Amino acid sequence: MGENKKIILTGDRPTGKLHVGHYVGSLKRRVELQNSGEYDEIYIMIADAQALTDNADNPQKVRDNILEVALDYLSVGIDPAKSNILIQSYVSELTELSFYYMNLVTVSRLQRNPTVKAEIQMRNFETSIPVGFFTYPISQAADITAFEATAVPAGEDQMPMVEQTKEIVHKFNSVYGETLVDPQILLPSNKVCLRLPGIDGKAKMSKSLGNCIYLSEPEAEVKKKIMSMFTDPDHIRIEDPGKLEGNMVFTYLDAFCRQEHFAEYLPEYANLDELKEHYKRGGLGDVKVKKFLNNVVQEELRPIRAKRAEYEKNMDEVYEILKKGSEAAKEKAAVTLSKVKAAMKINYFDGQGIRL
Ligand code: TRP
Repeated sequence: MGENKKIILTGDRPTGKLHVGHYVGSLKRRVELQNSGEYDEIYIMIADAQALTDNADNPQKVRDNILEVALDYLSVGIDPAKSNILIQSYVSELTELSFYYMNLVTVSRLQRNPTVKAEIQMRNFETSIPVGFFTYPISQAADITAFEATAVPAGEDQMPMVEQTKEIVHKFNSVYGETLVDPQILLPSNKVCLRLPGIDGKAKMSKSLGNCIYLSEPEAEVKKKIMSMFTDPDHIRIEDPGKLEGNMVFTYLDAFCRQEHFAEYLPEYANLDELKEHYKRGGLGDVKVKKFLNNVVQEELRPIRAKRAEYEKNMDEVYEILKKGSEAAKEKAAVTLSKVKAAMKINYFDGQGIRL
């Protein structure tokens, strides 16, 4: 077991640029946790091997997005002096751990994983599910346990993965003796951030649905998207009473708006409740609320864009950050792997002699 250290492991698949849903759902929290100084070690993983489980025929896409995701991390404030940013496939120990954990999980348990179920449906895999994809929750358990993570700050969709990890940890420890650390997921405390819908209001923000606002998008593009957001289709004239449910402008204000934004951008209202009341009553137009939201979102994204531009000029540094983070991660995972192998009695040549 670990020495009661507080350790974070989390990550993302490099299948596209990260968007504001990732930001409010997890990235922002990671940076806060990082800067709290409460954690002894932090590992942020670019999960390329997991991305390949359903993109086996498109390795270039995965490779290209490694740098995009790394830039997204750095631009939101993941600080390489405090956090290791690593590339999953470099840490080959993870694959080895997965192989051993596979003995502790049944096919029917994997079939019941709600996130995997939903993904299978979304990708129309049905009977042609790649085995690697089907078993990725096991590899995710390897990711989490290899670093002896106590905390996994992630979005709600990762909850079944952490639950499955906990089951593997308990099973492993009961069969082979206390070895692995039991992790906890850390979800965003703001409810609306659990699953930020896309700008069309239809579903979760997702690249394949084309309803995202990306962290790296230029100001004018973001504004265009905000001005085209889905609101209340029955709110036709300004005087009409408006609905807040399913109204993306208000959903996004719930996610992004802080009290001080009113003094700065909309001083005729004291707070979000007042603004909502006026909208419900009628007499408040969508354009005005959208302009306010645009100011709020741009304020959040401006420093992120600026930081990204800095790093983009310095890609050699990004490369070094990834290399250093991956090497540190590999070292840590190797220690866990040797503990696992010892617990499983497959540590034949570790200097103890070969008394089989
Ligand atoms: N499954 C995560 C995603 O879809 C990526 C990921 C891989 C991850 N390993 C992890 C997240 C471990 C948290 C912990 O983006």
